Amino acid sequence: MPESRPKVSLTGIKPTGEPHLGNLIGAIRPGLELAETYDSIYFIADYHALTTVRDRAELRHASRQVAATWLAAGLKPERTVMYVQSDVPETFELAWALSCVTAKGLMNRAHAYKAARDANIEAGQDPDAGINMGLYNYPVLMAADILLMETDVVPVGRDQLQHVEIAADVAGTFNHLYGDAYKLKVPAAVIPSTGSGQVLPGLDGRKMSKSYGNTIPLLAPENQLKKLVRRMPTDSTPVEAPKDPDTSPAFQILEQFATGETAATLVPEVRKRLETGGMGWGELKNVLFEVLNTELTPLRGRYAELMEPGSELDDILADGARRARERAGRVLGAVRAAVGVGA
Ligand code: TRP
Repeated sequence: MPESRPKVSLTGIKPTGEPHLGNLIGAIRPGLELAETYDSIYFIADYHALTTVRDRAELRHASRQVAATWLAAGLKPERTVMYVQSDVPETFELAWALSCVTAKGLMNRAHAYKAARDANIEAGQDPDAGINMGLYNYPVLMAADILLMETDVVPVGRDQLQHVEIAADVAGTFNHLYGDAYKLKVPAAVIPSTGSGQVLPGLDGRKMSKSYGNTIPLLAPENQLKKLVRRMPTDSTPVEAPKDPDTSPAFQILEQFATGETAATLVPEVRKRLETGGMGWGELKNVLFEVLNTELTPLRGRYAELMEPGSELDDILADGARRARERAGRVLGAVRAAVGVGA
C-alpha cells in the first residue's frame, strides 16, 4: 500500500541574534512555502543555543523573538506545529539513547567541532580549549530533534547538510541494531532555493551575514531602516549615466525582497531606468526603503503584539509543545522498548 500521509518537514531555528532580511529571504519565506505542501514542524532550538549563549535573559528573549518573528511573517499555527525544543523533554532522552549508538569518530569529523579544534591548533593552544561537550554532542542532539518527529525532509542551509547526514547515519545504525523491534525514519535534507538562487548582499555589498555586521534587521524601526538604506555605499556614477543593476547591492536586495505586484511591475521598471540611465543611486535607495518599509511595517506591528507579556504567543507555543509531545511520546516509547529500558 503506498503511503498517502503527507510528508513531514522539520527544521530547527537557533535563537541567536536579531532576525534580519537574510533570514526572511533565505529561511522564513522558503519555510512558509514548504508548509503549504508538507506537514511542517518548526521549533526553536534553545538548548542548541546554550552551547554558546551564557546570558539567560538573552536566551529567553531570543527564543520568543524567533517564534514571534515567524508568526508575524505569516506562519499559521493551525497548520504548522511550532514549539520550543526545551518544552519537549523527550528530545533529550532520545539524544542519550542515540549517543550510545553513535561512533565517537563520527563526531570528531563534524564540521563545527573540527573547525573549533583546528582554530585552537592553529593558535598553538590545547586542541580542545574552550570546547564544551554541548558543542561536541551538538550533532547527536540535532539527530534526536529530527528522528523524534519521524521527519521525512529537513530544509536547511548548506552549512547544516552534514548534520542531517549524521542524523541519517545515526538512524541507520540504530535500525541495524534494533530494527527487528523498531525502525527510526531515515531523513533527507532539502536545500530550499531562495527566490532567485542568488546570494543576498548586505549593506556593504558582501553577503548579508551577522558576522559581517552588514545586515538589515527585520524589526528595525522605520527611521533606523531609512538610515541604514541611505548609508549604503554607492559610487559617484551620475544620475543620467547607465548603470548595471546586477552589480548594485541596493537593486539586488530590492529584486530578491519584492514579491507579487511589486516584483512584477516595479522591479523591471527600476531595472530599465537604471540600465538606460536617468535613475540615480539616491532614488534607487528611496525606492528600496519604501518597498522594505511597506512590507515590514505590518510585520513589526504584529511582532510587537506577540511580544507583549500574556499575548497569544504563549498559548501557541504551549499548543505546539503539546502536539509535538504526542508524536514524541510514541517514538520514544518505541525506542525505549527496542533498546530494553523501562517497563
Ligand atoms: N543546527 C541548526 C542551525 O544552526 C539548528 C537546528 C537544531 C536544526 N536542530 C535542528 C535544524 C534540526 C534542522 C533540524 O541552524
